[in-house]
Amino acid sequence: PVDGVGRSHGKAILIGEHAVVYGAAAIALPVPSVEAIAQVELLPAGETSRLTSRLHSGTFATLPAELTPVAAAVHAAATAVGLDPDRIHLRIGSQVPIGRGMGSSAAVAAAVVEAVADAAGAQLTAEVRHELIQTSERVAHGNPSGLDARTVVSDQPVRFLQRRPQGSVPVARPTSFVIADSGVSASTAVAVATVRARREAAPQVVDAVIEELSALVDPVAAALGSGDMTGLGAGMTRAHELLREIGVSSPVLDDLVEGALAAGSPGAKLTGSGGGGCVLALAASPQAADDLALALHAAGAPRTWTMTLAPRKGDA
Ligand code: PMV
Repeated sequence: PVDGVGRSHGKAILIGEHAVVYGAAAIALPVPSVEAIAQVELLPAGETSRLTSRLHSGTFATLPAELTPVAAAVHAAATAVGLDPDRIHLRIGSQVPIGRGMGSSAAVAAAVVEAVADAAGAQLTAEVRHELIQTSERVAHGNPSGLDARTVVSDQPVRFLQRRPQGSVPVARPTSFVIADSGVSASTAVAVATVRARREAAPQVVDAVIEELSALVDPVAAALGSGDMTGLGAGMTRAHELLREIGVSSPVLDDLVEGALAAGSPGAKLTGSGGGGCVLALAASPQAADDLALALHAAGAPRTWTMTLAPRKGDA
């Protein structure tokens, strides 16, 4: 029996990664093509809470370390809605790849929080829900900005500044992107430390790059809001070049960007922390997305995901 269900999805960063650490704005995109789903069953008294997932099937007491953020999400959400966390059977399934900067931990946490609230028949406010997801994210990542936690529950691009959401970013017309996996796991902590070390060694050079990255955010948002694919793509490709200059790209990521551009993409860049992870490539039109995905496979991506941002009613 299923007493509560929750769903959420992945995310990608359109613009502003790394510069956001130094005070710039950033824009993150929802990626609905990779979903996380959670189901809660309320157990009769006397049974022991348990988790069923690809990585673990058994009690919470024997959970592997990588799933402790899930236990934190269950505990926080159950406590908030007045359920006994010891009487929950949680099932989770997630398509969001782990370690690719696509927000897998936040997506799973968001699905779990929603499923637990649903099982209690509780309506969470956006702020309470966000705090519960962040409780899990702190276990997963230490000091998360909240960008992942906001974007995995949004159906619109989200703009961020100084760890705070500044609302959604309008989209003028259906805009398709292909996300290409580099096949390499990314460590956000290592990438952030790489930029910090470079900045200590060459402050003027790195600060100039960060400033230019930060200056791309408004034009990119404006291009998305006016349906200017050329301008949007140009901003993305420039961001990739700048991110490469500060040491967070890799030969695989550069090849994927080159492959996308050669296939007619208006622009492409690494997305997220870099080092590994994924490339985000803009399709010239929604109809061009399949060919772009094939080109990215040919350029070395073991898998790709395609998504289309649609204008919200009133934004078009
Ligand atoms: O790869 P992700 O999604 O964890 O993105 C990290 C974004 C950075 O700007 C590199 C770091 C940060 O904390 O904002």
